[in-house]
Amino acid sequence: MFNHLVLAALSLITTYLFIQLRYKRLQQFAHLPQLPPSLVWGHMIVYDEFSKRGKKDRHPDLVFDSINKALGSPPVMLVDMRPVSKPAAVITSHDLAEQVAKSSELFPRSLPKNPCIIDLVHLIGPNSIISAEGIDDYTPEFLSYTADQLRSFFPVGHDTTSILMGWILYELSRNPHALKAVRAELDEICGTDPDPAVVRAKLYEGGEDLIRRMTYISAVIKETIRLHPPASTARYSKPGTGFTVRTANGEEHCLDGCIIYNCHTIIHRGRSVYGDTADDFIPERWLGDTDTSDVGDSLEKRQSVNANRNFPAIAWRPFERGPRNCIGQELANLEARIRVAFIIRKHNFVKIGLGEIKRNDNAQPALGDNGSYRVKEEPYPVSIRRRFPRWIKLTTPEDVTSENTKPVHGMKMKVKVASAS
Ligand code: HEM
Repeated sequence: MFNHLVLAALSLITTYLFIQLRYKRLQQFAHLPQLPPSLVWGHMIVYDEFSKRGKKDRHPDLVFDSINKALGSPPVMLVDMRPVSKPAAVITSHDLAEQVAKSSELFPRSLPKNPCIIDLVHLIGPNSIISAEGIDDYTPEFLSYTADQLRSFFPVGHDTTSILMGWILYELSRNPHALKAVRAELDEICGTDPDPAVVRAKLYEGGEDLIRRMTYISAVIKETIRLHPPASTARYSKPGTGFTVRTANGEEHCLDGCIIYNCHTIIHRGRSVYGDTADDFIPERWLGDTDTSDVGDSLEKRQSVNANRNFPAIAWRPFERGPRNCIGQELANLEARIRVAFIIRKHNFVKIGLGEIKRNDNAQPALGDNGSYRVKEEPYPVSIRRRFPRWIKLTTPEDVTSENTKPVHGMKMKVKVASAS
């Protein structure tokens, strides 16, 4: 009798688990475009297959890109890696990304951050601007938590900006026309002496005005960060909240219960916006539209698709947009301009390892049709996420920024002192 009862209970539990599993894997997010899920493994096996088709260590964004293309480039797609992580809605269109980041009636301060940020709370503090939700006033209490904010700035401020600088030097090293134009602009703005001490004195003297005149350099920064976006945003809408995005053809997708990931790597190379040259480095595409940050813009300007701009403002979002956009974007842009001004005329940067320039029979760099030097093998972004169980405490600043798209092998370059320009 007892055995029968145990058997009956076991079969009930098994049936319950099976129904739950079938619902979660095959029905819960069936409305979202996705690769065929396995009942047991979700997308884990198929994700693994896609990740093995390229460089093993490449950033997940590049795997998402292959999956997205295989699905016919839908604007949102589901990647279900449960139980390793929450199901993710990967956003690949700027229109949908904007709906995620902007303020709405449902979320006046925009969609809350992905709760995984909790893993970092002991590093950055419970009141960090990165993890805190719903701070209404700069009250004395809030100000007294300044230490948390400073601790947050160290990791998110240095890693992103150094990734940007690395890619700027790489792109300038393989795009001779852009390097020439940057040097010419600096000659005009700072004088022809490239000595950093002279440049510093000029910048001190001319301040903001000189920085504002760096239009070509701004275009270089804007184009570099488009092709190599260092960071992104991941949000979360609790089940039952009713957060819905609407695609261009009017389909509505409820994304409750998913981590919602605006995938800049895909969005920034969208053919519908950037055309056939989406993968090419063309700073000139930004001339006349070289704003590199949203700070100071009116809300209307930030949220509009401004007809005077070359491209829709929402299709270039390296610092994200909306109420939770990057607080350090102005600083990062300023830093990038000043660093370029200091080093780019005094030094020549030559990539070694991945990204090394191809040479023709005369040992001269081989120029491609798009005006860039051909490289032996393209460098690509990686993430350094530690694959440890969640109960192991993360301890280093790198852990806070581990998902950032870092250049593979660092950005190894030979640096030569340039002859007088
Ligand atoms: C090239 C450099 C940088 C890039 C590409 C970048 C990008 C981003 C992105 C994509 C976000 C996410 C916004 C969101 O979740 O919607 C973010 C947030 C943030 N960034 Fe940056 N960032 C850069 C530099 C900096 C610097 C220099 C600082 C500070 C000194 C900084 C401080 C922050 C902070 C505190 C947040 C959190 C804002 C919030 O959650 O409300 N960032 N950044």
